[in-house]
Amino acid sequence: MCAKSLLLVFGILLGLSHLSLSQDWPTFQRKHITSTSSIDCNTVMNNSLFIIRGTCKEVNTFIVSTAATVQDICSGVPGPSNVTSSTNFELIDCIRRSEVPPPCPYNSNSENNVICVTCERTLPVHFVRKGRCP
Ligand SMILES: *[C@@H]1O[C@H](CO)[C@@H](O)[C@H](O)[C@H]1NC(C)=O
Ligand SMILES: *[C@@H]1O[C@H](CO)[C@@H](O)[C@H](O)[C@H]1NC(C)=O
Repeated sequence: MCAKSLLLVFGILLGLSHLSLSQDWPTFQRKHITSTSSIDCNTVMNNSLFIIRGTCKEVNTFIVSTAATVQDICSGVPGPSNVTSSTNFELIDCIRRSEVPPPCPYNSNSENNVICVTCERTLPVHFVRKGRCP
């Protein structure tokens, strides 16, 4: 095998490992977008999405919006890059009250703020933080 084809195989493997590591838009929607501000953190956080190896996720931010509006943040951004939204969103943090075997009790906290997301191929794939991108 020549060096070129070895490089190609290596490149493909790298690409695949990157794919499996990175999050995707459907998962982003399930984890971070809610159509209603009246969510009960105790109920929504009791989901395999937020229980990693038997441990409840410490904090999760929900964006009260539609998928289309959130998707617009990455419109025309091939990325991968971090982008700050140009408008404020209503945000709900679900914050773990105590670390016990699931389901864990959660508190909630609301605020309006811009958000920083990672855009890949014009789609949001990772919620970076509330507020502007670092
Ligand atoms: C949490 O989720 C588990 C598994 O889906 C379910 O059996 C249980 O009733 C839920 N508990 C609460 C308090 O919602
Ligand atoms: C986005 O921001 C996070 C947190 O600061 C950082 O770890 C990540 O590398 C950034 N991604 C890109 C594509 O700039």
